[in-house]
Amino acid sequence: MKVTIFKDERALAKTLAGHVAQALAGKPDLVLGLPTGRTPIRLYHELGAMHANAQVDFSKATTFNVDEFLGVGREHPGSYRAFMEEHLFSRVNLSPERINVLDGSAADAAAECARYERAIESAGGIDLQLLGIGTNGHIGFNEPARELVGSTHRVMLKASTRRSNAALFGGDEKKVPYEALSMGMATILRARRIVMIATGKSKARCVEQVVRGPITTKLPASFLQVHRDVELMLDETAAGSLNP
Ligand code: GLP
Repeated sequence: MKVTIFKDERALAKTLAGHVAQALAGKPDLVLGLPTGRTPIRLYHELGAMHANAQVDFSKATTFNVDEFLGVGREHPGSYRAFMEEHLFSRVNLSPERINVLDGSAADAAAECARYERAIESAGGIDLQLLGIGTNGHIGFNEPARELVGSTHRVMLKASTRRSNAALFGGDEKKVPYEALSMGMATILRARRIVMIATGKSKARCVEQVVRGPITTKLPASFLQVHRDVELMLDETAAGSLNP
């Protein structure tokens, strides 16, 4: 697993935005997997700024977001769809028909998950999957559990995960949905290239376990160890528990 440590979040975001722009220059119809959360916000704004300076072109790209809350539609301000509109989609020239986010308001959640898997496949699979990581080691909404699920599925959220998403729901944890839809572990691991980003002290312990620990369903991100082309991009604080 390649680990790259940056002096701060800004340096990380700038470098990764450069990698994304380079990947798009090499393959304009790149298929990108995208995370939400606080961590990628700087990256998305950086890509927006680069786009404004004609340094990156998303016109032929396709995107798939990793997860979405169940029971919230795209207009709901707490939805990941709304988050993505605010931080990335409104800032770059993605074609709306090539933006894919799971529909949390779908009447049939299982059918929506199956549709999403098919859509990823017909797009040719994910070329570059960007990921964040939850403090409990979740990726997407694949929470620590005795068993993990391979394909896109409906998931029950942990109390800690709902708490850390409260800001999207006016700071009220009670308003955060109890369930979500998420790409599965296999959906994520099938991506040709994966870059996981983590910043801040709160991620240091789980980052250390992802890099050094055993592969375990108790820490879903540890499965990234089996992937051939994965890079962890960290700021100094998230890398704080890694030995020099
Ligand atoms: C959320 C998302 C994940 C994200 C993670 C980390 O619950 N479902 O996809 O990677 O938690 O969030 P943050 O970047 O805010 O720490």
